[in-house]
Amino acid sequence: MSSIVSQPVAEKLTQSAIFLVVTLAPEPRVDQAVRGLCGDLSSLLRGIGFRHPSRKLSCTMGFGSDAWDRLFGEPRPAELHPFKEIRGEHHAVSTPGDLLFHIRATHMDLCFEMASQIMLRLGDGVTSADEVHGFKYFDERDLLGFVDGTENPSGQAALDATLIGDEDAAFAGGSYVIVQKYLHDLTAWNKLPVEQQERIIGRQKLSDIEQDDSAKASYAHNVLTNIEENGQQLQILRDNMPFGDVSKGEFGTYFIGYACSPTRIEKMLNNMFVGNPPGNYDRLLDFSKAVTGSLFFIPTASFLDDVSE
Ligand code: HEM
Repeated sequence: MSSIVSQPVAEKLTQSAIFLVVTLAPEPRVDQAVRGLCGDLSSLLRGIGFRHPSRKLSCTMGFGSDAWDRLFGEPRPAELHPFKEIRGEHHAVSTPGDLLFHIRATHMDLCFEMASQIMLRLGDGVTSADEVHGFKYFDERDLLGFVDGTENPSGQAALDATLIGDEDAAFAGGSYVIVQKYLHDLTAWNKLPVEQQERIIGRQKLSDIEQDDSAKASYAHNVLTNIEENGQQLQILRDNMPFGDVSKGEFGTYFIGYACSPTRIEKMLNNMFVGNPPGNYDRLLDFSKAVTGSLFFIPTASFLDDVSE
């Protein structure tokens, strides 16, 4: 029996990434192009990645709920659904997205080439809903100035947090991902005293040391996103990236979170946007506005390899 190979969800974090979300025109030729790309994705990755193996090119391809039904039908991943908007103290919008490509490498050249080849293959029935080119900033910091990613699980813990197991055996080795593009009001954020910023994040800004639990505000980002079930922490894997356009005054964080179940990411989002208890919301959101929000299923690489036009 051949073993199932997952997509590189828990790949080491890299210096550059392209987050590409596209929508599909309702025409059979588009389905054919997408199916053709699925079968050829690993070959494209080999062709481009081999030019610079040390630059660690990887790409995960995800499918929105409607796109899955249209392309593959039954059986469908147990927890796949469109991203549910949240209206609380702040608004987590739900925006269109049929396919997600999360392309990572140590250098942008490989990401750019991979994204170009993907779009070429998909052809003109595909429209870009959003394309963000992310970069690593000093010391792994986001544009708010805090180190982002410290508490990510790694090694086996990252695989346990992200890959589906026996609970949905037909899709074991797959994963779910939620993406949101956040724009920051950096002028307002930078006017806040650093102590107040640290209360919002729950860590010290310069040293990245976590605040003592007794000193943390109940609304700290790392309190609201720390969720448990039966005494066990439910982890997700994030690979957020800064992005921006200085002449437009646009500064942002592209949030991407992988998990074996979208429920745990949704619970974190609920805590952030509605609050826990309601009203005790994440003050990061007073300075960061979510302008996109989509949920995708990431099938295994083995599944993609077997898709034919
Ligand atoms: C932790 C930034 C959105 C989940 C952190 C940390 C920073 C940060 C600086 C502390 C260091 C670390 O452990 O990584 C941001 C920014 C966001 C954002 C700038 C967008 C504006 C989100 C969202 C979620 C999330 C939408 C989940 C739905 C988490 C989790 C942790 C974390 C699980 C680790 C908490 C812990 O156990 O200590 N984030 N984050 N973040 N964030 Fe976010």
